[in-house]
Amino acid sequence: MSNLNNEKYTIDEKNSDYRNMFLGVDVEFKLENGKKVIPIGFDNGATTPSLKCVFNEVYNNLLIYGSIGRGQGPKGELSTKKYEESRDRILKIFNLQDTNTHTVIYTKTTTESLNILANILIKHKNDKVLTTRMEHHANDLPWQSTAVVEYIDVDKLGRINIKDIENKLKKENGNIKVVSITGASNVTGYMNPINEIARLAHKYGAKIVVDGAQLVAHKEIDMKGKFPSEQIDFLVFSSHKAYAPFGSGAIVGLLTDLYSEKPFLKGGGCVDYVFDNKIIWSEPPSLHEAGSPNFIGAMAMVRALEELKNIGFENIYNHERKIKEYLIKEMKKIDNVIIYGDIENTEDRLCVISFNIKNKDCYEVADRFAKERAIALRAGKFCAHPYVARLLNVSNDYKDYEKNLNDADFGMIRLSIGLYNTMEEAKIFIEKLKEIALDM
Ligand code: ALA
Repeated sequence: MSNLNNEKYTIDEKNSDYRNMFLGVDVEFKLENGKKVIPIGFDNGATTPSLKCVFNEVYNNLLIYGSIGRGQGPKGELSTKKYEESRDRILKIFNLQDTNTHTVIYTKTTTESLNILANILIKHKNDKVLTTRMEHHANDLPWQSTAVVEYIDVDKLGRINIKDIENKLKKENGNIKVVSITGASNVTGYMNPINEIARLAHKYGAKIVVDGAQLVAHKEIDMKGKFPSEQIDFLVFSSHKAYAPFGSGAIVGLLTDLYSEKPFLKGGGCVDYVFDNKIIWSEPPSLHEAGSPNFIGAMAMVRALEELKNIGFENIYNHERKIKEYLIKEMKKIDNVIIYGDIENTEDRLCVISFNIKNKDCYEVADRFAKERAIALRAGKFCAHPYVARLLNVSNDYKDYEKNLNDADFGMIRLSIGLYNTMEEAKIFIEKLKEIALDM
């Protein structure tokens, strides 16, 4: 079987600097005025370009893949082995070594992961889940449809106060089953102290779920924690925000809690027997992976995460921190620019900066950046309507909307950087921002 691995294909991964490790970041595009420019990708909170090593990984796995867990033959056997072994590689990335206690379920996206968890962890519709007003809808709506949801509100600058979490848990006196919180906000980039929140959740008998979609590519996540009480029970994330845009996501978590009466998705691969009158479901992780697995997607995701770990999260964080500090410092100086969140103490923020220009429509501003200089940003409410409303200090109460007191037509412009972005790009962005903001 080893000859399957002989035909290796590699593109030069050129590791001399971070930007050179990525594919497609220097492809020219034509602006409407005919000028050719290299686009600036400042929408990494939405999706990221691919690492070159991921391309190589995908190519090499395309040469050997077969059916996963569903047939005989050398390709199927080799790829099934690689697929199963990749679960341990994922555990290692998050500092979990014990495959008896933890496992990895492959999914399509963070959203799918959270929907699956909301269906596994909630056993009764009266079970309570504690989450926050900082969340992306993916970490809110699935819980709303399976449980009773309690929220921790944000302060004026958009932060969560961890004392509020403790007070709420104490008051609920063991009734909160799950605390589900984002690792980093997709609107302000605030990073929550997840290991500390885990300790509180455990103290009051709850499990913790961390939405790692925005964090996983930017900061080390230590699921094990310094003490057993600080362990993260479940982490979810997607590959396309971590430089492997091939449609995969994962749930990393406690094996014992992933048993359930029946899975969310049903079909082939999640059953041991189907009798005419009884179904014997498989054990996790296969219980939650009905349908043919996305082998290539899983390989791409693991390779990208390993590459980030090799680069070192300290290095990644420092590179992105410098750009963040420069951007915030310069944006603050520009008249008419309103930046949301704390712009004085920015240590707990990733380089995700949401802003507006006074009296200008956020979509029109983002459009100008795109059309005039090929700078990719995102405008709107970023699938986090309650949080954006709070940051803008507008009502998010449906009753106000019904009475026409609020047209719900609010939004912001978001800039979110990735490892391949450079200070030169930040400078170009600032010049363009000045031009748009001062053009009244
Ligand atoms: N969740 C992604 C974002 O924040 C799509 O843009």
